Amino acid sequence: MNPPPDFPNNPLSPAVVAGARLRLARVDDCEALAGLAQSAHSHPWSERQYRDSMASGHRVWLLEHEAGEPIACCVVSQLLDEAEILDIAVAPAWRRRGIARALLGQVIQRLVGQTARLLLEVRVSNTPARSLYSALGFVEDGVRRGYYPTAVGGREDAVLMSLDLHQMPQPPA
Ligand SMILES: CC(C)(COP(=O)(O)OP(=O)(O)OC[C@H]1O[C@@H](n2cnc3c(N)ncnc32)[C@H](O)[C@@H]1OP(=O)(O)O)[C@@H](O)C(=O)NCCC(=O)NCCS
Repeated sequence: MNPPPDFPNNPLSPAVVAGARLRLARVDDCEALAGLAQSAHSHPWSERQYRDSMASGHRVWLLEHEAGEPIACCVVSQLLDEAEILDIAVAPAWRRRGIARALLGQVIQRLVGQTARLLLEVRVSNTPARSLYSALGFVEDGVRRGYYPTAVGGREDAVLMSLDLHQMPQPPA
């Protein structure tokens, strides 16, 4: 697989996903993004939410198979020198192959040099995601009590995490 032109040094090697392509999503991808979210999240974003997110200037990265199947996505907002991961999802059939790690690695690489901190919130019960973020160097900054709704009508805490991008190596010029 050749790296897509907008992603130099793409670590999504054939060993990770043969024939996959990473690109910025468009409005006509929102239905597929909502389908991916439906398969991945307990409280998925709707097609409309992805469209609104794009309209408000968020970057929506989409990893798709050459056959057009969406494999993973990551939504990032930027405010001054801070960025926030608003959504990341890998389709269930594609998990535990290093895809989220590689995708976030690419997102981080794009932010280094122009962004001081990358922020996110994650459900306290979401062990896979918390392990992923810790493995990438994110630290836990605090807890937002009862932030998320649960599937059974209750509330669940959010863990606030951040990554200091000053610590990250600069991408090659
Ligand atoms: C969290 C998620 C994005 C991980 O995607 P993935 O492609 O399977 O993750 P990777 O294969 O890149 O794993 C990277 C690291 O994350 C951690 N991890 C991933 N899945 C894990 C699991 N089920 N249990 C424990 N740790 C896990 C591990 O540290 C792993 O490193 P390792 O393989 O060396 O042990 C995926 O499970 C997902 O889409 N979940 C539903 C959506 C979601 O919860 N998004 C996060 C919202 S904040």
